[in-house]
Amino acid sequence: MKKRKGIILAGGSATRLYPLTLAISKQMMPVYDKPMIYYPLSVLMEAQMQEILLISTPRDIATFQALLGDGRKWGMKFFYKVQEKPNGLAEAFTIGEEFIGQDSVAMILGDNMFYGEHLREVLKRANERQEEATIFGYLVKNPSAYGVVEIDKDGNALSIEEKPQQPKSNYAVPGLYFYPSGVSQIAKTIKPSARGELEITDINEFYRKQGKLKVEKLGRGMTWFDTGTHDALLETASFVQTIQKRQRLQISCPEEIAYENKWITKEELLQLAMPFMKTEYGRYLKELAEDKLGG
Ligand code: DAU
Repeated sequence: MKKRKGIILAGGSATRLYPLTLAISKQMMPVYDKPMIYYPLSVLMEAQMQEILLISTPRDIATFQALLGDGRKWGMKFFYKVQEKPNGLAEAFTIGEEFIGQDSVAMILGDNMFYGEHLREVLKRANERQEEATIFGYLVKNPSAYGVVEIDKDGNALSIEEKPQQPKSNYAVPGLYFYPSGVSQIAKTIKPSARGELEITDINEFYRKQGKLKVEKLGRGMTWFDTGTHDALLETASFVQTIQKRQRLQISCPEEIAYENKWITKEELLQLAMPFMKTEYGRYLKELAEDKLGG
């Protein structure tokens, strides 16, 4: 499979989470036992992306660098760029132009979390499409709060609108987007919307008009959260706690995915576990390395 690069957009002002985010990035907030950014990062890792660009604010970029480093400990490569102002999601592709180069790319929002049995399969299908863009469709009760996509029976997007008052479907578009090479050129042609942002929906509309916008439905058994409010943050944390307490499996554990992807060895995994041995997280990594999760 041709390699695809990954971008995590983790900027914005997060005023809906004040006072939590007065001094700290939203995407650093705890979601039960991990920083929020681990969840979207894990999705890109599940999709086999080993080179990741993290984009954040001038204030917050240094804390992400302190947390994640250059990626070597997980057999990856991390790069960092600043977004000076929250000018919109589409700006990620102009900021990331040099990083992307001639490759295809996927972008995930730093506050989006996905979990489910079939995630890997869906990501694989999106990954294999090199000439078309792929977005996802998730049935919600309040589509007007999101990008909304109408889908035909072959999985093509018929229409896509940003926060429409009269949505044409109940499929919200989560913050995960796969694009062919050349998306930075398209991003440069986008003009700010009425809310003053460079909208990702306009990039998607460009591909749709060319008949090149595919939609993968995320069905029953798939969970998608965006963690932008106090309630959503707590609900997401409770979800993670519930699953992890009941089942001997971690949700979005980068060390585990790196190990499964064979980006790190058993010895390296054990080394990573060592400083965490006072936590359930550390004990989990050790059991994983020793092949004892199943008992
Ligand atoms: O969560 C999915 C939704 O995300 C999609 O359904 C919409 O189509 C898409 O436009 C976006 O809508 P939101 O209005 O929820 O986006 P928001 O402005 O909240 O930004 C999403 C995340 O991206 C948030 O964590 C902050 C970050 N961000 C946002 C902007 C505008 C940046 O890092 N830079 C930015 O310039």
